[in-house]
Amino acid sequence: MKTLLTNISQLLQAREPSVTLVKGKEMETLPLLNNAWILLNDTVIEDYGTMENLPQLEVNETIDCTGKTVLPTWCDSHTHLVYAGNREQEFVDRIKGKTYQEIAASGGGILNSAKKLQITSEDSLYIQAAKRLEEVMQMGTGAIEIKSGYGLTTEAEIKMLRVARKLGKEYDVAVKTSFLGAHAVPQEFKNNKEGYVELICTEMLPKIVSEKLADYIDVFCEDGYFSVEDTRKILSEGKKYNLQGKIHVNQFNAIGGIAEGVKQEALSVDHLEVLQNKDIEALKGSNTMPVALPSCSYFLSIPYTPGRQIIDAGLPLALATDYNPGSTPSGNMNFVVATACIKMKLTPEEAINAATINGAYAMGLSETHGSITKGKSASLIVTKEIPSYGFIPYAFGSDLIDMVFVNGKRRK
Ligand code: NIG
Ligand code: FE
Repeated sequence: MKTLLTNISQLLQAREPSVTLVKGKEMETLPLLNNAWILLNDTVIEDYGTMENLPQLEVNETIDCTGKTVLPTWCDSHTHLVYAGNREQEFVDRIKGKTYQEIAASGGGILNSAKKLQITSEDSLYIQAAKRLEEVMQMGTGAIEIKSGYGLTTEAEIKMLRVARKLGKEYDVAVKTSFLGAHAVPQEFKNNKEGYVELICTEMLPKIVSEKLADYIDVFCEDGYFSVEDTRKILSEGKKYNLQGKIHVNQFNAIGGIAEGVKQEALSVDHLEVLQNKDIEALKGSNTMPVALPSCSYFLSIPYTPGRQIIDAGLPLALATDYNPGSTPSGNMNFVVATACIKMKLTPEEAINAATINGAYAMGLSETHGSITKGKSASLIVTKEIPSYGFIPYAFGSDLIDMVFVNGKRRK
């Protein structure tokens, strides 16, 4: 099945396959072809160019994109999309004055979600998560990472990851999974965190690896959760099974987790709302991608990741949603891109690079996603008629998406 899109006003992010990420000043540049075409052949991008050089092509379908912008689908490298129920009540509690940390300390938060998930069947969990996945695909997401971490028992962590894997099998969206057993210390281990870390390393991890359920390993490295020492232990253990780290770090406190993540060759370090100079220094010269989650900052009213400072230091930056029931009940990457511009002072070019090519890097999908490149996945967003791509973050509350192709299939 060949689909040709013609008269595209702006075709964004056409890059050579050798470009796997952009950093520092490079992030200011967003490749752009005016008056362009692109040819999709089943699941891959076959070719693209400008209209004056459009060859004679045998195609099944031609779509006129006059006035429209086409870009690669969003790469959401950090989500907790598999969860049970919601935490609407905690949202109201926070409105009335309780803090996120106070709610967590009184048995709410992650432990609340774990309680719900443990008593939810795998089938029900799948149905709930699939609905969310379909929604985010319609909002332009074509590749997504999904974490465990609301199970906190061997059985429930496995249940979550099986659901995530099944989503990857049933849908055309690319799915990567991360094992986040170290998301919170369960009630039963309240006075024995070491025992829980031991359980993660000696029971959960080997079982998850033997079922091939995880691509990465994650830890919530934070005061009151898991220390830098715990993080080192868990990431080192993961390495033995060839699982690279993608960690939650510096959300509320800078405790040295970024340097540890870099030392352990983590693929990404995520959150970074509270960042010190030594953290920036630790990232320099590494292959670790810093990832900002601005809709989490928005929802919790916590500081925004200093993305401007990260990019100005010559580093790359990726953007993701953090879609989860507690800190970010939204998987809308369009909002993330807009919020990065509005609150973190990224330019539209930087934000789009961060949400596409750098997002793909942050989940190991550089070879197939994140840019308009021959042979990469036919995963595209076609906007409605807009004056230029700058409208995507500028008109932040509007639905500007006309069509979404995910691995060649129309999702909107
Ligand atoms: O990335 N920070 C840790 N974990 C999640 C939120 C967990 C929750 O509140 O359910 C996050 O924000
Ligand atoms: Fe998260």
